[in-house]
Amino acid sequence: MAGRLALVTGGNGGIGTAVCRELAAQGYRVVTTCVDAKAERVDEWQAQLREEGFEVGYVECNVADYASCQRMAEQMAASYGEVEVLINLAGITRDAFCHKMDHKDWQDVVDINLDSVFNVTRQFLNGMRDRGFGRIVNVSSVNGQTGQFGQANYSAAKAGMHGFTMALAKENARKGVSVNTVSPGYVATSMTAAIPDNVREQIVSQIPAGRMAEPGEIARVIAFLAADESGYITGANVPVNGGQFCSF
Ligand code: CAA
Repeated sequence: MAGRLALVTGGNGGIGTAVCRELAAQGYRVVTTCVDAKAERVDEWQAQLREEGFEVGYVECNVADYASCQRMAEQMAASYGEVEVLINLAGITRDAFCHKMDHKDWQDVVDINLDSVFNVTRQFLNGMRDRGFGRIVNVSSVNGQTGQFGQANYSAAKAGMHGFTMALAKENARKGVSVNTVSPGYVATSMTAAIPDNVREQIVSQIPAGRMAEPGEIARVIAFLAADESGYITGANVPVNGGQFCSF
């Protein structure tokens, strides 16, 4: 429904920008969080979207930190209103074989990719339940479904995310709150650009579609799940991976 308030964590990243654009184009009021971006980088990002005709708000938040999420929720309520659509998208990689992985690289990935989903969702769930409407979309990864070399941390966090989705879907189905996971495959963003070229080429050569996804191809699925009319879809995982991993 036009005018609903959507919060996109990590919305100024590769997929995030496409999600903000898609939701804003559909008439949602859109706000993003991000942690490490300096104010001027966010200003630049907002200005770029403004040029395209999209006004996207910004609240500072470290999604890995519960107290920061509490403060962010207070700011959201004061500046924008009640969050009706939540897209948990903030994520990082710190790839290394597990036998070489630092504890910090494990912890940062689990904190930012998985703990964050609880930290942020917890702030808005009671409001959604009280109002009898909410849409939560958790953005996982094909590598959470399959495991991936160098990603014990990321694969564990992304798989855990869908466990959270399924439990939350059951708890909230009678309250008008749907909770789903979208699992993208490899998407053309700075995250996949950081993979060594030869490794990336080898991975892409094994994708049946023969290419990586464009961010917009993920965004449209997220927006579909966020729609008022999609409420009967809950607890689902929707893969968008060019045939890289087929399952049912
Ligand atoms: N398949 C098969 N073999 C692999 C492999 C793979 N995907 N990745 C590494 N190997 C093998 C290498 O071929 C090599 O074998 P040999 O010793 O026989 O030559 C061995 O493992 C060691 O590989 P490296 O020399 O590359 O070792 P490294 O320690 O320097 O790096 C790595 C290992 C971190 C796994 C690196 O290869 C890498 O970054 N791989 C990419 C991981 C990846 O796919 N990350 C996804 C990031 S994007 C993302 O996460 C978004 C999303 O949701 C999809």
